[in-house]
Amino acid sequence: MLPSHLNGHSPLARRRPRLSAASPPAEAGTASAAAPLDEHDRIYFQSYSHIGIHEAMIKDRVRTDAYHTAIMQHQKFIEGKVVMDVGCGTGILSVFCARAGAKRVYAVDASEIAIQAREIVKANNLSDKIVVVHGRVEDVDVEEKVDVIISEWMGYMLLYESMLPSVLFARDKWLKPGGLILPSHATLFMAPVTNPERYEGSVDFWSDVYGINMSALVPLAKKFTSEEPSIETIGGENVISWPSVVKHINCYTFTPEEFKSITAKFKVSSMMLAPLHGFGLWFEVEFNGPAESSHNTPSSLNPLDIIQKKRRRGSDDAVLLSTAPEDEPTHWQQTILYFPDPVEVKQDQIIEGSITVSQSDENPRFLNINLECLYLAHGAFIGLKFYG
Ligand SMILES: C[S@@+](CC[C@H](N)C(=O)[O-])C[C@H]1O[C@@H](n2cnc3c(N)ncnc32)[C@H](O)[C@@H]1O
Repeated sequence: MLPSHLNGHSPLARRRPRLSAASPPAEAGTASAAAPLDEHDRIYFQSYSHIGIHEAMIKDRVRTDAYHTAIMQHQKFIEGKVVMDVGCGTGILSVFCARAGAKRVYAVDASEIAIQAREIVKANNLSDKIVVVHGRVEDVDVEEKVDVIISEWMGYMLLYESMLPSVLFARDKWLKPGGLILPSHATLFMAPVTNPERYEGSVDFWSDVYGINMSALVPLAKKFTSEEPSIETIGGENVISWPSVVKHINCYTFTPEEFKSITAKFKVSSMMLAPLHGFGLWFEVEFNGPAESSHNTPSSLNPLDIIQKKRRRGSDDAVLLSTAPEDEPTHWQQTILYFPDPVEVKQDQIIEGSITVSQSDENPRFLNINLECLYLAHGAFIGLKFYG
């Protein structure tokens, strides 16, 4: 079954985009006015009042360990400083920061989970350090500017849920110059994928069901498989080329305006003869200080650099939270955009096209994805559109 969290019907969504206010980009040191809380926000914040969503996130050790390690790595910066945890949930990151020596942590969350976060803070004798603020970060008032902003804002394929504009709002309104943002950088990748087992399991399956020919359902199955992004775990063996960077985000400089629509071209070469079933998307985030942020500009960044950097991890002290197919699975899994029909690609065949990911006007919680792909050897063209 396709996951319901991307189809717009489930009230319980870990990841839903929110439309940033249609306002001019923020000037340095100022935050643009926030859009008023609407019905989409209400449903979104309500989804975070369920314990299951917090359990899934906290039990994702790849995620939670990465944040814990990053906080400890920046302990010298955090010690004695003021932190804002944008979207604190249960308060786990706020507690990590308090234990790392923060003088004060403003733990902000608009969901009812903030009520439990306050109790958790009390039960851990941290009420003198952690101030839980129940409200939208766009609306709350705290007593001082902060030295550090920490937030776990990433959604499926990085951009779903669109919580990043709220973090940028907090940065522009509350972060002192030279302050630290964790995570500091995020990169969205895409690559062509082959997944015969998945295709056979959901499309070919219908040709023989208990000896009954149900092929009449094949067109429906193809439509169902390809009309929405699918959240599933694939492995490195499913990826048939080097990945392409869709977007590299520097959280110190990125603007809410830039978030609204992202377009990238890709041109990759197939490493094998395989049926191409679609494209996979995933992301990585890094936790660098403001000083290191300048050497990771989009122009200097290519997938090979990133992969090399990952291999050096361990000797290198940078924390990298990866949701790539070749890495340990996370609750984000990967996002797959399936074609209705696979296309045979040869080794070294060029696959090129473009992708646009933009926030839906209709429902600010959703994304529209427009993928156009050209297989040079066939001269074939496929256009895929996913509307939120
Ligand atoms: C992905 S969860 C992270 C929770 C927690 N920080 C953790 O790491 O386990 C995101 C949280 O941010 C909150 N949130 C999202 N946008 C927000 C906003 N604009 N203002 C306040 N809270 C927000 C949600 O209610 C949710 O609890």
